[in-house]
Amino acid sequence: MVDGINQLEPNLVVITGDLTENGFSAEYDGVKRFIDKIECKNKILVPGNHDSKNAGYVHFEDLFTDRYFSRNFENVTVVGADSSQPDLDEGHLGRENYGWIKEAFSGEKFKVFAMHHHLVPIPLAGRENTVLVDAGDVLELLNRCKVNLVLCGHCHIPWVWNLNNMLVVNAGTFCSSKTRGKTKQCYNLIQADNENHDGDWKVRVSRVFSKGDRELVTETVM
Ligand SMILES: [Fe+2]
Repeated sequence: MVDGINQLEPNLVVITGDLTENGFSAEYDGVKRFIDKIECKNKILVPGNHDSKNAGYVHFEDLFTDRYFSRNFENVTVVGADSSQPDLDEGHLGRENYGWIKEAFSGEKFKVFAMHHHLVPIPLAGRENTVLVDAGDVLELLNRCKVNLVLCGHCHIPWVWNLNNMLVVNAGTFCSSKTRGKTKQCYNLIQADNENHDGDWKVRVSRVFSKGDRELVTETVM
């Protein structure tokens, strides 16, 4: 996976959490060695519910980044937020975060929001208790901010919804064997370009499988 990502030479790598099983320091050290091998200078990480177990969020912040942040690149704004709660599986963003998220998305760049939990239900997730408890308000907030892309993780189910011209892209799993149903180990490759500089972005979402083969899932203009 690392070799494959490095060959793609991505501008950004976004990892939407559950780096560890139980949030312990030794687990974080192990996963950091892998992540350090990804040769992309713009790596974005948000913690998952497993990463926050046993106060693992302390190690996350030590090794990686703040758990809430916004970063601006040449033509992309990325906002990341910790949707986990220590020792709970349920996701929660919280009204106290809506204000700064809105502010961070006030520009006109391509807007990406990253968090661990699901923003909307997806197939194969079983009893749907994996969506943010405040999903409706977050969905409305991100839509109002004209976010282009929401990146989520959690249930290892690769899926894409297009909601009001906002792509909500769930990641599968590549490094674990916890694939659900007939899904295969994969990561998402997202290509966004505005070569015509007409304000429109052409966005393609593909899945990359273990042998490097790809499946185009969604192609849209926004
Ligand atoms: Fe999770």
